[in-house]
Amino acid sequence: MKPIFGVDYYPEHWPRERWATDARMMREMGVQVVRLAEFSWAKWEPSAGEFHFEELEEAIGVLGAEGIRCILGTPTAAPPAWIIRLNPEIEPMDADGHRRHFGGRHHACPSNPVYREHIRRFVTAFAARFAHHPNVIGWQVDNELGNSHGDLCFCPCCENRFRAWLKEKYGDIAALNDAWGTAFWSQQYDRFEHICAPKTTASGHNPSQMLDWKRFCSDLVCEFHRFQAQILRAAAPHAFLTHNMMGFSDKVDYFRLARQLDFASHDQYPGGHFRPRLDLPLEDRLAAELDFIRGVGGAPFWIMEQQAGITGWEVLGRTPRPGQLSLWAMQSIAHGADAVLFFRWRSCLMGTEQYWHGLLPHNGVPGRTYREIAGFMRQTAPLLEALQGGMPVCQAAILFSYDQEYALSIQPHHPELRYVDHLMTYYTALYRRNIPVDFVHDGQPLDGYRVLIAPLLFLMTPALAQKLRAYVQNGGTLVLTMRSGVKDEHNLCFAQGALPCLLDDLCGLRVEDYDCLRDMDGLVEWDGETYAVEKWSDLLTLTTAEPLAVYAREFYAGTPAVTRNAYGAGKVYYVGTQMGEALSARFARELEQTAGLEPLLETPLGVEAAQRVAQGVRYLFLLNHTAHTQPVAVPDGWQPYGGAGGDLPPYGARVFTRKS
Ligand code: GAL
Ligand code: ZN
Repeated sequence: MKPIFGVDYYPEHWPRERWATDARMMREMGVQVVRLAEFSWAKWEPSAGEFHFEELEEAIGVLGAEGIRCILGTPTAAPPAWIIRLNPEIEPMDADGHRRHFGGRHHACPSNPVYREHIRRFVTAFAARFAHHPNVIGWQVDNELGNSHGDLCFCPCCENRFRAWLKEKYGDIAALNDAWGTAFWSQQYDRFEHICAPKTTASGHNPSQMLDWKRFCSDLVCEFHRFQAQILRAAAPHAFLTHNMMGFSDKVDYFRLARQLDFASHDQYPGGHFRPRLDLPLEDRLAAELDFIRGVGGAPFWIMEQQAGITGWEVLGRTPRPGQLSLWAMQSIAHGADAVLFFRWRSCLMGTEQYWHGLLPHNGVPGRTYREIAGFMRQTAPLLEALQGGMPVCQAAILFSYDQEYALSIQPHHPELRYVDHLMTYYTALYRRNIPVDFVHDGQPLDGYRVLIAPLLFLMTPALAQKLRAYVQNGGTLVLTMRSGVKDEHNLCFAQGALPCLLDDLCGLRVEDYDCLRDMDGLVEWDGETYAVEKWSDLLTLTTAEPLAVYAREFYAGTPAVTRNAYGAGKVYYVGTQMGEALSARFARELEQTAGLEPLLETPLGVEAAQRVAQGVRYLFLLNHTAHTQPVAVPDGWQPYGGAGGDLPPYGARVFTRKS
């Protein structure tokens, strides 16, 4: 049977005599699987080629005796001191050319061939030892790839890999010079060998080079993963391979990484590193990250690390309120988690993460958290069993693109413009209406969606423009925004055509001018109501589009800000600004009316509705993210699952079912 609940466990942090107690207490609370080993290289290989896996094997055995299965992580996020002493050149280098040193984690360059040999030796032995262990069911390469890497590694090795990557992409140096626009500031290259990683410069950077660097870094991480994945797959073809991703973290293209996996996993920490306020709403962002990870794998996912207590390293976040940890775990399930592992089993007595609290406190005696999560597992297990493989059904999708995110992080225009935050203005508006959303990438079929929201398509290619055109032609409703069709795939501005280039006729307008709203908010008017907007105003000349909202400030007051254009069998909306909350809500209503998006249910603010469909049964989740009791009536046609009905207590959840 597939495990559904688990914990992240570090037996090497605890005396052997405690393991059996831990394993028993885990089983008693409903834990069926643990992830372990991902940071303990020094223990398993104290010197080159001298392997000591006995202790790990014993721990796996102790867990197995309680029926608990294991996922093993390769420990390459923390190479031991002896490796660094032997080969100091594998320490990563920052953008100023300084090495980052041993003493934390992630102190290794992802491309260094010497480091790769250390990895090959270790992972091969590790996999050989445990591949056929009956209790080892899956593997994870490294941990949160991309984490702590800032802009990754600028060492000579990575620089060389970057050159090879560019050579492969451009073939000859003239093509690169064109693509990077090196005529500017005399940046022309005669040969690939002269190109550097974009280290700290005296002044400025070439945006085209920066974009390729970010793409390269993402590819390098994927290749780093593949290097280990191949060893693991060859040794353990029957086991699954997954990776713990970090939501909207942007260092690795997760759509690409996910292709190497059997399923995606995600680490969900609603408390963040030290979130100072738990009372400010964030649940839309949490929901979006979960939907994103579901989109990345195109399937249900696992939570490899679900928050288990107060978060914190040097400073601490707030204490999750009674019920809140369970609610957050339920939210993960509602958005597509097939299994949830809590990080971590017990708060650690030593090291950086002493205050990243586990299910058990430092003294190992079960308290409020253990009891709460034990109750949660007991109550939720039958539901989660029934939900396996179940997905939401979404009529709307948001197009997510790392290329766009990279290009806009290089040139955000407005100092506070963030790609993900901008996408969130749309997501949140639909979320508040309980309209479920998928995240998609531009390489996948899009025709299944009534509405496709494709914000900030800053870089445009003829192929993407064609795909969007066909989508609308066939009856889709497309939402395009400010800063679309500005540049080509090399991050060069288009030489010809009107903004949004390649899309202007589809939108039925031209962007003739624009205004970056520095230190001020804009205002628009729609049907006699005024709404705040932020960061940007596109000044639009309409050809076939009709205006919906018009600007109400500045010299362009009275000119269109939000428009709609009929095209083929479909419609295109153009939003020339970043909408504030009230305007996004108004816009969501417009989409409901014209494209027929259907909310799952009307709920009070702070109560979320989500849905999964499994084996012909619909499951409707109601999640109360507020500190107050919320009244809920059983929705028409739905049965309370497990008999539980009535008001939603603070941080409480209810599930209803119905044959689909
Ligand atoms: C995660 C990471 C874990 C642990 C945890 C708490 O991001 O995967 O290894 O570090 O955060 O800091
Ligand atoms: Zn490097």
